[in-house]
Amino acid sequence: MMIDFDKNLLIQKAMSVRENAYAPYSNYQVGAALLTNSGRVFTGVNVENSAYPVTMCAERSSVFKAVSEGEREFAAVAIATSNGGTPCGSCRQVLAEFGLDTLVILVDENGLVTEEMTVAELLPKAFTPSDLV
Ligand code: THU
Repeated sequence: MMIDFDKNLLIQKAMSVRENAYAPYSNYQVGAALLTNSGRVFTGVNVENSAYPVTMCAERSSVFKAVSEGEREFAAVAIATSNGGTPCGSCRQVLAEFGLDTLVILVDENGLVTEEMTVAELLPKAFTPSDLV
């Protein structure tokens, strides 16, 4: 189900939360704004760590916040980076857990939409909960 939503507002939220990214090691700041089917928006940023592998990505931060608040159905996620970079494999897998139809909107630091695709397109042949039944 795709709800009506203001794409520009979602993009704005991703761009503005990106300023909170904690990325002193890579200097690659990422902001995500995840829209639930119920109309709520959960933001997330990447949070790096001096023990590098402990770093958490922006997309997963937003999903974990949303799920923690009882949300499991997502309409869209806007992801802001300097250059419109695409979500990593771990973030694709975490998004896929909650639906392959979620729209992924990638924007660069100027708010220009560089790409738009579904999670299914980002992660073809995803392993999902239905594989376990
Ligand atoms: N990063 C994300 O936040 N999301 C992604 O999907 C790709 C990578 C972050 C992790 C790290 O802090 C920085 O970008 C460089 O890899």
